[in-house]
Amino acid sequence: MARKLVKKMNVALIGQAFMGRAHSNAYRQVGRFFDCGLEPVMHTIAARNAETLASFAAEQGWSAHTTRWQDIAEDGAIDFVDVATPNDSHRELSLAMLAAGKHVACEKPLAGTLKEAREMRDAAANAEGSQTFVWFNYRRAPAIGLAYKLLREGRLGRIYHVRASYLQSWGGPATPLSWRFQKNLAGSGAHGDLNAHIVDLARFLVGEEITEINGAIERTFIEERTQLGTNERKKCDVDDCTLFLASFAGGATASFEATRLAGGHLNDNTIEINGEGGSLRWNLENLNELWFFDASDAEREAGWRRIVATSADHHPYAAAWWPDGHICGYEHTFTNELADILRVLGDEQPVLPLPDFADAYETQRVLEAALVAARERCAIPLSAVL
Ligand SMILES: NC(=O)c1ccc[n+]([C@@H]2O[C@H](COP(=O)([O-])OP(=O)(O)OC[C@H]3O[C@@H](n4cnc5c(N)ncnc54)[C@H](O)[C@@H]3O)[C@@H](O)[C@H]2O)c1
Repeated sequence: MARKLVKKMNVALIGQAFMGRAHSNAYRQVGRFFDCGLEPVMHTIAARNAETLASFAAEQGWSAHTTRWQDIAEDGAIDFVDVATPNDSHRELSLAMLAAGKHVACEKPLAGTLKEAREMRDAAANAEGSQTFVWFNYRRAPAIGLAYKLLREGRLGRIYHVRASYLQSWGGPATPLSWRFQKNLAGSGAHGDLNAHIVDLARFLVGEEITEINGAIERTFIEERTQLGTNERKKCDVDDCTLFLASFAGGATASFEATRLAGGHLNDNTIEINGEGGSLRWNLENLNELWFFDASDAEREAGWRRIVATSADHHPYAAAWWPDGHICGYEHTFTNELADILRVLGDEQPVLPLPDFADAYETQRVLEAALVAARERCAIPLSAVL
């Protein structure tokens, strides 16, 4: 098939560490695997570490680099800016880029606090001509895409339960201090980091909003950590784990659990949905698999069905990659999301709906309501958290 006529779009990235690498990879790969009609040109990278920035830019394929993010805002040749820095800077960077007329894709959570997230939502709504996106990349695992389609087709019927947990184990007492353990930089701990992902997934898959938090626990077990490179002990003022119960608009019950202290669980992001027509289950550590229980199956053969979501003909994004059965990984979720972002900016439909700042603000409201519920030890209707 002939490729579409491709227009070019200069992009800039802010942040050169974990997400800086993941996103750089997506910019390099997307045009080689997807036919989006819009090609990202890796124009400029900005980050704070001047010693490693030039080599990072060269290694990852960025034409220019700067330690001043303002250079990006001031450069009229740049159309699209990707914010991949810690949570405390999402608001300032996004607002500056929107004010400069750029499209913005921001990492999750939208911000460290609800107030900042609200300012970002409002700035996006007022930024005529600019579009916003949030990197809730797990929406774009092909198996999650299949789950979304089965749910939209009504295969699960009325939804009864959502059970979501995001368990990691890296946050023990020997782990040194980083921005992720400091409230002024991160906003919250496991909650904003991990519950953000599973609240987004649950809202996306169920297709309804959460209307009430019915109870929550937020706990910090490790209250001090050593600053890297020194013996200095510093306070950690974010949660190591947060668990909460919630209700969806249609009446479904939900439980969410995020922790960095679940020994043996490396990146165990699991979501299960039970409805009158069946159940769906997915886990990031086996991200190509969707487990499906169809309640209409004859009792004799009924049971969980393991679907390897790699079919070019049937599973979202799979056709862009490898022959059926040749699985995808973590990095593909970013490239799949970028392909949809490029489609939207090129006036085409995304394969699956994309989260913008307004959508991510709804996730942030749920996170905030859960924190209020934990601190006040009571149920909190979402209508009280605006
Ligand atoms: N979608 C996902 O799967 C996923 C995974 C990890 C992290 N994240 C999110 O990505 C963001 C970054 O996390 P990370 O793990 O890459 O962090 P990191 O600590 O590995 O990297 C942060 C980078 O931002 C740079 N930086 C910080 N403040 C800056 C500023 N004001 N101007 C320019 N550069 C600045 C740092 O120098 C560093 O290069 C966070 O919001 C985090 O929640 C998302």
